[in-house]
Parts: sequence; C-alpha cells; structure tokens
Amino acid sequence: MPEFKRYMVTSALPYANGPVHIGHLAGVYIPSDIYVRYLRLKGKDVISVCGSDEHGVPITLKAKKEGVSPQEIVDRYHNIIKKSFIDFGIAFDIYSRTSSETHYKTASDFFKYLYDKGEFIVKTTEQYFDTQENQFLADRYIKGTCPKCGYEEAYGDQCEKCGSALNPTDLINPKSTISGVELTLKNTKHWYLPLDKHEPFLRKWILEDHKEWKPNVYGQCKSWLDNGLQPRAVSRDLDWGVPVPIKNAEGKVLYVWFDAPIGYISATKELTSDWEKYWKDKETKLVHFIGKDNIVFHCIIFPAMLKAEGSYILPDNVPANAFLNLENDKISTSKNWAVWLHEYLEDFKDKQDVLRYVLTANAPETKDNDFTWKNFQARNNGELVAVLGNFINRTLVLTKKYYDKVIPLPDKINEADISVLEKILKTKKDIEENIEIYKFRDALKAYMNLARTGNKYLADNEPWKLIKTDPDRVRTIMYVAAQITAALAILGEPFLPFTSEKLKKIINFENTKWEDVNLRITKANHKINEPELLFDKIEDKEIEYQINKLLKTKEENIKNDVEPKPIKEIISFDDFQKLDIRTATIIEAEKVPKTKKLLKLKLDTGIDKRTVVSGIAEFYKPEEIIGKQVQVLVNLAPRKLKGTESQGMILTAENSQGKLCLVSPEEKFENGSAVS
Ligand code: 2FM
Ligand code: ZN
Repeated sequence: MPEFKRYMVTSALPYANGPVHIGHLAGVYIPSDIYVRYLRLKGKDVISVCGSDEHGVPITLKAKKEGVSPQEIVDRYHNIIKKSFIDFGIAFDIYSRTSSETHYKTASDFFKYLYDKGEFIVKTTEQYFDTQENQFLADRYIKGTCPKCGYEEAYGDQCEKCGSALNPTDLINPKSTISGVELTLKNTKHWYLPLDKHEPFLRKWILEDHKEWKPNVYGQCKSWLDNGLQPRAVSRDLDWGVPVPIKNAEGKVLYVWFDAPIGYISATKELTSDWEKYWKDKETKLVHFIGKDNIVFHCIIFPAMLKAEGSYILPDNVPANAFLNLENDKISTSKNWAVWLHEYLEDFKDKQDVLRYVLTANAPETKDNDFTWKNFQARNNGELVAVLGNFINRTLVLTKKYYDKVIPLPDKINEADISVLEKILKTKKDIEENIEIYKFRDALKAYMNLARTGNKYLADNEPWKLIKTDPDRVRTIMYVAAQITAALAILGEPFLPFTSEKLKKIINFENTKWEDVNLRITKANHKINEPELLFDKIEDKEIEYQINKLLKTKEENIKNDVEPKPIKEIISFDDFQKLDIRTATIIEAEKVPKTKKLLKLKLDTGIDKRTVVSGIAEFYKPEEIIGKQVQVLVNLAPRKLKGTESQGMILTAENSQGKLCLVSPEEKFENGSAVS
C-alpha cells in the first residue's frame, strides 16, 4: 500500500430537507468518524469535511408545501443536522453548506472552467412540463401507466410493479405528482457531461486499479460500466440552485449532483487556505464515505468531473455502506419510520456512545442490516455493561480499595501476565488493520475482545481471594489490569469517544496518542481519580416505550396511507338509470355451507321475496342482520354462487383494508323504495 502524506476524508452531504436518523449515522457518519479519529490519534495529517446539501427538487417541493422559501427550509434543517452531529461527537473539521458564498463561487467556477475547456455537450430535448406549477419535472415527479404491465402508478424512471426501467416519455397518460395535471412536452436546452468519453479511463481506473474496493461498490461500478455510459445532463430548469454561469442560461441551475460533491472542495476552502494540497497533491489519500445509493455519483460522475478538470486527485477509496432498516422495515423520512437523533437524545440522555456502539456492531457494511430496540438493549446490557463496563469498574474499584487509587508496583510477571499484556499489542494491531480496510465492525470486535480478555484474567486470577493470602501477586494482577484499562481508554476513542474521554479523566490519563499503547502504558505509582460507572443498564420499560412509539407511527401510517381506488371509467346518466336499486329487509340469513365468506339471505324487496348470496360472512353474523334494511340491485341477472342462485346483489362499501359494510337507508324505509 502506498504511504500517503495526508488524508482528505469526505462524508456525504445530507439533504437539508429533514433531520438525520440512525440510518445516516450507521451508513456514513460513524464509519467516517471512526476512521478520522483513528487517523488523528495516529498523528496523521487529516481533514474531515461535510456540510448540508441544500439544493435539489425535494427541497423546493417541501418549501412549496409549507408555503415558505427554500432558504427557510434549509436554514431550519441545516441547524438541526449540524447540532445532531456535534451532539453525537461526529468530529468534522468543518460542517459547511452548499448555499455558502464560497460554494456558489467554487461550483460556478468549476462549471465555467469545464465549459470553456469544451468538456460539455449541449442538447435540446423535449421534456415534460407542468403548466400549473410552471416547471419541468424530474422523472420521479411524473407518474403514469406502465406501457409494459399496465400499472397505473409507474414513475417516470421506473415501474415499481414490473421493475422495468422507463423514460418519462414511455408512460401512458403521464401526470404530475405535484399538481396532478396532465403534462405537456416542451423543448429545453441542457449541458451534458459526456460520460461515454470518459468510459475507457473509468474502466481502467476502477476495474483494474481499484480491485480492492468493497465488492458492493466495485460490483455496482462494473455493472454501470458494462451497460455503457451515456452523456449526463448537469443542468436543470429550476429557480433554486447555483445558476448556470454562462450567457443565455436564464432559469437554469447546476444539477444538484453536479454541485453537491464540489461542496467537499468548497468546505475545504472555507477551512484552510492550504486546500489545494488536500485536493491536488498525489500524496493525499482522498476517501469518500457514502451510502450505497450514492455510489454512481462518487465513483463515476464526480471522478469524471474531476478528471475532465484535470488538476484534481481522484478518490483512493469509496467505502459505501448498505442500508440500515428499523425493526424490519425500510427507514423512511416521509413515513416517520426512523429513530431521529435529536429524539434519541431526549430519551437517552448522555448515551451517545451506546448508539454509536450498537450502530457500529450492526453496521450494514456488506449488506442491509436491521436495527431493533431489543438488540440495542441486549448489546448495552450484555456487552457494554457486562463486559466492558464490568471489567473497567472492577479494576478501578479494586485499585481504590487495595491501593487507595494508586497503580501498584508489580511483583513477578509470569507467562499468563505476559500473554495478556501481549494481547494489548495484538488488539491494537487488529484494530489498525481493520480500520485501514474500512472494516469497522471487526475493529470494534477486536476492541471488545480485549475487555473480554481482561474479564477472564480477573476471573482466573481472583485477586479478591488472593488479597488475603498473596498480596504480592495481587499487585501484579492489578498492575496488568490497569494496563488493559488504559489501553481500552485509548483504543476506544474512535468508537466510543465520550466514554473514552470520561475514562481517561478517571484514570488521569489525558492527551494520549495511539502510540502510547504498548506493553506498559500506565506506570506504577500513578494516581487515578474516583471510579465512576461508565455504562448503566437499560430497563425493559425504556425499550417498551420506544417500541410503542414505533407502533403508534405504524398505526398512523396505516390510517394515512389510505389511497382511494381510482375512479372508474365515466358512464352516462342513461347507464346509471339502468340500475334498479331498491330498499329491502333481510328476513332470513344463514351461512352457505363450506364457504368462509358467503351468506345466503332472504330479502323482502317490497316487490317479492327473493334469495341473494352476499360475501359478507366475515363481517356479519347471520343472527345479527335479520331485520336490517339494505339496498339491493334487483335487476342484476341471476347467477349461481356455490350451488345457490343469487337473485340480485346487496350494496356494500369496502374500505382500504378490505372490510365490508352494508349500505342501509338512514331511517326505517318502506321496502321497494327505489334508489336514484
Ligand atoms: O444522498 C444524499 O443524501 C445526498 N445529499 C448526498 C450528497 S453527497 C455529495 F455529493 F455531496
Ligand atoms: Zn410495469
């Protein structure tokens, strides 16, 4: 592996149209934070940047919906997101935003430079226009009937029923999802980055030179490249974004995915006048932390932009994670199916590290993974409290009890002691090796195993028993336990920064570096402070509260999710007049044998007494509906249902969950009355 002089670490810029949740933390920000904290502890020259992604259609739509300006939306969420990151110890060197002046200038200049260099092609194409909203629509905001399977709710880029990839112009009866109106096609001019031109370079750079990338990342890139790259529009017709900085481009802004990654560069510029060293020197290692939905933008499009510009370095790695689900369902901002970071802290004050720990231990590193509150509790109680906290607490408390908080001078060190001390070095190496290849779960496992070793060492040696018979031996045991504790304080910093800080204060061991971890970290006679518990148990009722909160959300969603069935084809009044619907009384009712759904009803229609079979058995007991009045279609041609002739059909209403309810007159009414 080449040695790099410095590191430039970026974390995907979150959209400023909502707060951040556990999926964001697990997928992007915890891994990048572990990496950066580790590098800093190693004394490396590293810059970590992030910021809010404040452009794009979802932000303008949210603003419209709330009747406020897009700026108001992004200001609101930028501040919430920024605070969440600070609260969770995500230690960026700068958290900027793409509405900053520096960013506008950097993104404009970048575009202009590529434009002047002839790196774009211009195309005029027909695109769908919403006349009511007075805007061109992105594919996701267009719905219509799928030409392949007839599904009426297909999107402009994909039919979610049959999975076909679509263009908006493939849809039958395309409509705007914003205003609902039918769309018109209009010509519009845009600038395209000819990705096809860069394909041979990208192919070699990724497929040959970066075989070490994570299989999910490499695989996605390969599949894009194998399908052949097409020119990609880098401008949009919108009034929110960085204006296209050339003449005759009124009403056009840079495509959000063109300006957002440039945001990494703008943020670095805001941070340091030395920014070029971090972006243009081949001895800088550039690493992008992202979620799997961002792979193509960071591995293909942004590198093509940087390559076209010519003076920038390209990423050395793009360790994208898969997604985290919540209690077996996809996390969704719009459905409020998430654990929001600011809400978590209201319920679990000062327990940032517990969440950091659980999200790292369950990180979706190779495939989508699930977060459950039960697992959260189990990991806290069974690992942080019972393993890590227990070992450290026993060591600190015994050191206080036996030696008045002074690390004792060891007596003879035997082989078992040496092997435990060597485990410290082995753990350090394991953590290093795993972090350097972005395997944070394994790095955390190695860390926890050191705490396990410590627990076992104490359990095997039983200093609390030996203190009476062999106090010299106990000095050695407690000295060794103190070394492990100090190692856990330092090595834990990338994963559990709050705990590590607290522990370092307790053991009076601040301003430590990674390299302080060796066979003897703390010296004999070193005085420590008062022991304190690092973790505490999470009770069942706290978890039940969280689960109930989610259950309520689910119920709300079911209520709100009700999308009425689309209206059927228009009929004429004459068609309606053909239906002869009368009020009738149910005079007999019984179940149709061997069926679950059918009731056989005898009706007094005022004209005659007749039999009607109806599929309401799951909702009405026969004895309960005798005497009820209903509306019945009396001129429906008779038909046989499970051996019984049905002479008409009673009217029912069906709700979104498929429940049926009889349609009855509002007051007792004369049988035979006609409905019109
Ligand atoms: O997917 C997202 O949340 C995007 N806002 C990520 C942008 S990353 C970068 F390119 F800015
Ligand atoms: Zn389809």
